[in-house]
Amino acid sequence: MANVVVVGAQWGDEGKGKIVDWLSERADVIARFQGGHNAGHTLVIDGKVYKLHALPSGVVRGGKLSVIGNGVVLDPWHLLKEIETIRAQGVEITPETLMIAENTPLIMPYHGELDRAREEAASKGTKIGTTGRGIGPCYEDKVGRRAIRVADLADPATLEARVDRALQHHDPLRKGLGVEAIDRDGLVELLKEIAPKILEYAAPVWKVMNEKRKAGKRILFEGAQGALLDIDFGTYPFVTSSNVIAGQAATGVGIGPGAINYVLGIVKAYTTRVGEGPFPTELDDADGQRLGERGHEFGTTTGRKRRCGWFDAALVRQTCVTSGVTGISLTKLDVLDGFETLKICTGYDLDGQVLDYLPTAADQQARCTPIYEEVPGWSESTEGARSWADLPANAIKYVRRIEELIQCPVAMLSTSPEREDTILVTDPFAD
Ligand code: GDP
Ligand code: IMO
Ligand code: MG
Repeated sequence: MANVVVVGAQWGDEGKGKIVDWLSERADVIARFQGGHNAGHTLVIDGKVYKLHALPSGVVRGGKLSVIGNGVVLDPWHLLKEIETIRAQGVEITPETLMIAENTPLIMPYHGELDRAREEAASKGTKIGTTGRGIGPCYEDKVGRRAIRVADLADPATLEARVDRALQHHDPLRKGLGVEAIDRDGLVELLKEIAPKILEYAAPVWKVMNEKRKAGKRILFEGAQGALLDIDFGTYPFVTSSNVIAGQAATGVGIGPGAINYVLGIVKAYTTRVGEGPFPTELDDADGQRLGERGHEFGTTTGRKRRCGWFDAALVRQTCVTSGVTGISLTKLDVLDGFETLKICTGYDLDGQVLDYLPTAADQQARCTPIYEEVPGWSESTEGARSWADLPANAIKYVRRIEELIQCPVAMLSTSPEREDTILVTDPFAD
């Protein structure tokens, strides 16, 4: 049976949630493998909007198993609130439909505080523009071997020892930033209070995933963020703190890389970015404003205005390689309706030299100017199109040109936020 990894191929917000929801009909298990509630995945089903941050997007379909893997960092208080919100929208969430890996690190209140204090103290050039949700500091604690993990909630003595170890590190840090010391006993109490509510979902996810795989169940791995925010391959240091690319799907749940049969890259028909950092095709003009307005480009998690720009084929070609993308899902094509001409970046000019990829060094990135190819737009509406036949000739040409430039075929097309406004070209789950 085919198992599919969905990854963002730009700077996030490509429409992963919609596509994961659409594909989850064909899957048995939907697993998050990195990131945390910095993600904001929007699903629109018959006009009803669901906004998911920590929960996998497959949760809204009944009869599926949703999994939060060890590669995720989990804010337990946020999760419990999100479960309540989604339940209030009529979705059933039980320990039978949701599992959390026992080895998942927990985001503590001091992680969010540290994240925000650092951002406030940062000057222009060092500010990342994080979501302020404590993602980076929690991953730091994981790698620093002082994280509090889901399994630690089960034993009060272990939990207290873990809290003490974490505070040994965090209190001096906070002092340096002028933040008050952590109320140790208060935190232990808070953790003991939520422990049973979280532990009811805790499971040895690595074991369950491998058993499901053996039983021939179909697994859909749901990536968060996008490859250009990857800690290794993104526009460092303006990135998130996890590996985002497809290889992480295996380590993020405890399954062998051979389990992955298809990698679906989610690609917006133009480019957006939230937060600081380089963005070669960014538009600071009426076209950029138009993309933002037509695309409703405001962050799902922070409400921040997203920066907008032309499609960057050089960057997507690069991310398709680092994730081993089999096919892409091109989203938000409808947002481009009505542009007389469209520009596509095919590479960069660096000091007179043509590059077909974005170099790693920050000073070189800053000197790269995009090389554009201009293509005709279309005046007809593509909104809600459900077949190729519904698309104007120039829209098809635009899609075909993107395929050529990124050297990767289009497997799916999305033409509105609604679940059913989707064109399937190749089924990623086909054996
Ligand atoms: P994600 O983080 O990748 O899941 O993406 P977000 O949910 O943060 O942002 C994508 C936004 O675009 C959401 O508001 C979606 O409802 C919306 N969206 C998804 N696909 C399409 C599409 O094909 N056309 C339009 N107009 N909107 C879309
Ligand atoms: P989804 O899954 C877009 C960005 C933040 C910031 C940087 C680091 O909805 O695509 P962090 O809080 O992770 O330390 O912030 O990463 N970022 C996202 N941008 N979509 C996301 O998720 C993002 N998650 C983090 O804006 O620039
Ligand atoms: Mg998003």
